[in-house]
Amino acid sequence: MPRKIIIDTDPGQDDAVAILLALASPEDIDVLGICAVAGNVPLALTERNARIICELSGHRETRVFAGCEKPISRNLVTAEHVHGKTGLDGPQLADPTMPLQEQHGVDFIIETLRREPAHTVTLCPLGPLTNIATAMQRAPDIIDRIQQIVLMGGAYFEVGNITPAAEFNIYVDPQAADIVFKSGVPLVVMPLDVTHKALTNRKRVEAFRALGTEPGRMVAEWTDFFERFDMQKYGSEGAPLHDPCVIAYLIDPSLFEGRHVNVEIETQSELTMGMTVADWWGVTNRPANALFMGSVDAERFFALLTDRIGRL
Ligand code: RIB
Ligand code: CA
Repeated sequence: MPRKIIIDTDPGQDDAVAILLALASPEDIDVLGICAVAGNVPLALTERNARIICELSGHRETRVFAGCEKPISRNLVTAEHVHGKTGLDGPQLADPTMPLQEQHGVDFIIETLRREPAHTVTLCPLGPLTNIATAMQRAPDIIDRIQQIVLMGGAYFEVGNITPAAEFNIYVDPQAADIVFKSGVPLVVMPLDVTHKALTNRKRVEAFRALGTEPGRMVAEWTDFFERFDMQKYGSEGAPLHDPCVIAYLIDPSLFEGRHVNVEIETQSELTMGMTVADWWGVTNRPANALFMGSVDAERFFALLTDRIGRL
């Protein structure tokens, strides 16, 4: 039985690969809808990019919604320095022709969770948590109906990528992250600690290109563009495919290993704003609220990605 999910996303080249993986895996995943959020680039671009990705995958029927255009209380911080001006820099991309849904993404999340049987819908945030937290604030009754939240965000041993202490998705909207991490919903967290081990390299990028398909070519060109930031900064061999870790977990959880710990969000100090404070060694008696991932079988991860994207 495929898992029903809502993807909440700020495409972003790595978001794009995650969405392609989900849409290529109907036996495992039923994408009820995709909600764009402001993050890597402003909302007008993230919703456009989400539609481009759906068309590229051949799934024009997927419903794409625009959600929140700014964080709950902070000013929007974007990441054009990583993803380029459009958010999907690398290949030339035509404007999308499929429609954007009229309904606001937050209303779609609320309505879907109220309609579907309780504990049958998983939320998969791949960007700042603004839409998810806003839905929880506007309709607290949906919180207990969410099956699970599997998100990309945070960092502990790997420390921050946008500030010394914080990972981008959490940093952009720390108040939203605080609401989600305190909600009591079962959380699976893919922090930089694990996504920085899901690195592209020449062989892996060429395997996408060798698929000989438009999606395969796009993924290779996106990762070629996206990797320069991390290679310069970390001296790494390639780009971390952060967001596809969320979808790969739904398909094959055995790819990942982590620990069920307490994770809380810094929302007071500007110095450490947005830090995910993970009690990895259990030094407090704060309740464990998240399965915080630390390792991935990268060979099997990329084999799954290449195989599934090769279907599109
Ligand atoms: O820090 C990495 C995260 O920020 C990824 O989701 C990437 O797409 C950006 O949103
Ligand atoms: Ca993202």
